[in-house]
Amino acid sequence: PAPGAHLGYGKIILLGEHSVVYGHHAIAAPIGLSVRAEVTRGSSASEPVISDWDVDGSVREPIRENISHRVAALITERLGVPAAGMRVDVFSDLPRASGLGASAAFAVAVIRAVAASFDIRISDAAVSRLAFECEQIVHGTPSGIDNTVATFGRPILFRKTDDGRPEISDIVTPQPIPIIIGLSGVSALTSQTVGLVRRAWQRNPRRYDQIFAQIDGLVLAGVDALRRGDIADLGELMNINQGLLNALQVSSPELEELVAIARRAGALGAKLTGGGGGGAMIAVAEPSGTEPIIAAMRGAGYTTYLTEIR
Ligand code: PMV
Repeated sequence: PAPGAHLGYGKIILLGEHSVVYGHHAIAAPIGLSVRAEVTRGSSASEPVISDWDVDGSVREPIRENISHRVAALITERLGVPAAGMRVDVFSDLPRASGLGASAAFAVAVIRAVAASFDIRISDAAVSRLAFECEQIVHGTPSGIDNTVATFGRPILFRKTDDGRPEISDIVTPQPIPIIIGLSGVSALTSQTVGLVRRAWQRNPRRYDQIFAQIDGLVLAGVDALRRGDIADLGELMNINQGLLNALQVSSPELEELVAIARRAGALGAKLTGGGGGGAMIAVAEPSGTEPIIAAMRGAGYTTYLTEIR
């Protein structure tokens, strides 16, 4: 297969999670971690068999009745191919339920692997649309940002529009911008934090719409900072965004600790990324400043990854 043919990319949201669900802008970028799927056919099983998958890429016993199975069933139905006799092996270096978009990356990888197995040509736009339907099974009301980055694998400015067609533009930075990812170690379901924010917004729409609009302003300023390669300005915007995510009550004690550790070790900005409530955070630094941040986070017992926006 061509390189990347059966991959779904993991992502971080640099600025704008949660408000993006309400039609505001957000910036997301792929990280060096992804999900890969392989399809084999010809077994006598009446239903598709999906290998379970884990952070280290190890394949466990096949699992049947879970969300991955429902996602695979939707994919075979939409692609118009028989599910019987199919085995899907999934390999991933992307941790699940951590705010790094693993479910969308899984859907994209499986769509690409199933399509390839049946010699079906499918455009990236169609892959992303179908992965969005898969995300609706997993998350309920996704904005569409996860499936978009999982498919295209490049940094984007994203906005969901009322007609359901996302507005997407590429973001190109003059030089790579280092990002340190920290895992809180607490798994969190995005559907839960999205539901919490929705209920708060329903009780007090004006109060929350104001916060969402403020976040939107940070995101647009962030696009400008990225295009200029201004890491210090990007960091400040991330810090303010974290304050507003805290106002939305989607942070957690572990995320707050990680953010504090990163800032103390010299990060120019730090915030949670993705759904929150646990999951992952990100910190930005000059290329020469990443080591002490990684060391401080690891020293406190957290798992970290170093990636870059490019
Ligand atoms: O937790 P993740 O990686 O699925 O990111 C979710 C981002 C949200 O804005 C909270 C939800 C969404 O659908 O955009």
